Amino acid sequence: MQVERVFSFKDEFNSDKIEVRIPEIVDPQYGMFTWPAAPVLAQYIWYNRDQVEGKHVVEIGAGTALPGLVASLCGANVTLTDKEEYPQCLENCRQSCHANGQTAIQVVGITWGQFTPNLLKLPKAAIILGSDCFYDTKDFDDILATVSFLMVKNYQAKFWSTYQERSSSHSIEDLLKKWGLKGIQIPLEGFNANDGNIGGSNLSDLHTIQMLEITRQ
Ligand SMILES: C[S@@+](CC[C@H](N)C(=O)[O-])C[C@H]1O[C@@H](n2cnc3c(N)ncnc32)[C@H](O)[C@@H]1O
Repeated sequence: MQVERVFSFKDEFNSDKIEVRIPEIVDPQYGMFTWPAAPVLAQYIWYNRDQVEGKHVVEIGAGTALPGLVASLCGANVTLTDKEEYPQCLENCRQSCHANGQTAIQVVGITWGQFTPNLLKLPKAAIILGSDCFYDTKDFDDILATVSFLMVKNYQAKFWSTYQERSSSHSIEDLLKKWGLKGIQIPLEGFNANDGNIGGSNLSDLHTIQMLEITRQ
């Protein structure tokens, strides 16, 4: 069943606000829905929108692409990516762009850890986004290989990543060192994301979501 979820982000001090429409297919087999980590990352982007305006932003493992859409509505030049071998996920990204009239967004197949022509052609990103990409330990090294490659194009780039803590053994600390990266944890209250209703998302498992900023060492 196809549904459309609407997320809204407001500034607490002025009248700035955006609304993002995300088409979803409610069928676990397809996984075309917005994971709980996505509204948290979207809120971080909204809170720091001055950092994305006019910049190139690349989202990896975008799925329904709520964070990338928020960046685009805040004035960034956005490229959405998902696994090259998952055309349905790439179609998902296009549908989200279409639903929000964001026709300038590029959608590109990028599989983590693969150094393909598509990866080489990506723009020099100032910000890389990744919501709930760190969920299967077998992919962690490949994700950081891709991120590290994008940061070689721009040494100042930042990787903003949210993830859902599913096991305490899922640490990426050693892999960050391997790829010459470092991460700092950003407390959710630091960007008004400590309310389970971020963007109207009604998150019951907010306490399991973490926000990391990863940069070069
Ligand atoms: C848990 S979902 C998160 C989706 C979305 N970012 C969100 O938070 O709603 C993981 C996403 O990573 C993508 N993905 C999985 N394996 C991948 C790989 N090896 N390379 C690139 N993307 C991958 C999936 O297609 C899916 O869109």
